[in-house]
Amino acid sequence: MAVASILFSPPLSKNSPNRILQKSQALRISSDYSQFEVRKVSYRPPGTQHNLLNEVSLSLPEKSFGLIFGRSGSGKTTLLQLLSGLSEPTSGSIYVQSYSNDGNPNQHPQLLSPERVGIVFQFPERFFLADTVLEEVTFGWPRQKADLLLRQQLALKLQYAINSVGLNTISLDEDPHTLSGGFKRRLALAIQLVQTPDLLLLDEPLAGLDWKARADVVKLLKHLKKDLTILVVSHDLKELSSLVDFSWRMEMGGILKEEPLPV
Ligand SMILES: Nc1ncnc2c1ncn2[C@@H]1O[C@H](COP(=O)(O)OP(=O)(O)OP(=O)(O)O)[C@@H](O)[C@H]1O
Ligand SMILES: [Mg+2]
Repeated sequence: MAVASILFSPPLSKNSPNRILQKSQALRISSDYSQFEVRKVSYRPPGTQHNLLNEVSLSLPEKSFGLIFGRSGSGKTTLLQLLSGLSEPTSGSIYVQSYSNDGNPNQHPQLLSPERVGIVFQFPERFFLADTVLEEVTFGWPRQKADLLLRQQLALKLQYAINSVGLNTISLDEDPHTLSGGFKRRLALAIQLVQTPDLLLLDEPLAGLDWKARADVVKLLKHLKKDLTILVVSHDLKELSSLVDFSWRMEMGGILKEEPLPV
């Protein structure tokens, strides 16, 4: 089933969602540049004695690709959970700061709202619930008759997500569980992209894939990097190195240090 046959393509009127999306994108780039910033974030789960993260700081400019590596159990996934709003820092802050060309902040920092963040967990295919690709991507959307503007906006988002990850080459009626490993990862990315996030967090995106699917996902991330800010946690440093603009090592005890990739 093609996206166009599921939700019609609207004509471009003054208030069409396409124009609304373009307008919001124009607003987003009206400041000279912005960064996602993590400042002195510590995290101690409620009722426990030790911090899992200790004064973690990092800055990630928009449309750049960051990679966090480090030993198992050092706190990488814990940090992604905080960035996505799934847990709250015990202290410190996470925000978006815009700067003018001279490098000075030109607005008050904005708290990073969870709606602006997409997260793909490790082995995302384990969490697929629906019987078709389409239902999986649109899970949670209004099933009642939505108004025209909302339907138009949802159609645009769906088209954007499906095209961005190359799922337009298969039928959206396919069962997600029968897809190849690489296509399952594409679907997991589409599920997040349909929310049009500004920041995409990926936990071990290549884990468990064969060499061909890994190369496929790397190529896809290169493509997504053109429009999105991406922060990845991975042990696969060699395969991702060509994409990486900034990298950090998470040391045991949740201490983050900026460090070039050891390749
Ligand atoms: N809710 C919790 N309460 C207590 N300890 C926790 C909790 N969640 C995670 N931990 C511990 O925090 C540490 C960091 O875990 P985390 O999953 O963030 O590590 P990681 O760097 O992602 O490891 P891996 O590379 O194996 O995925 C581990 O020692 C883990 O056992
Ligand atoms: Mg982890």
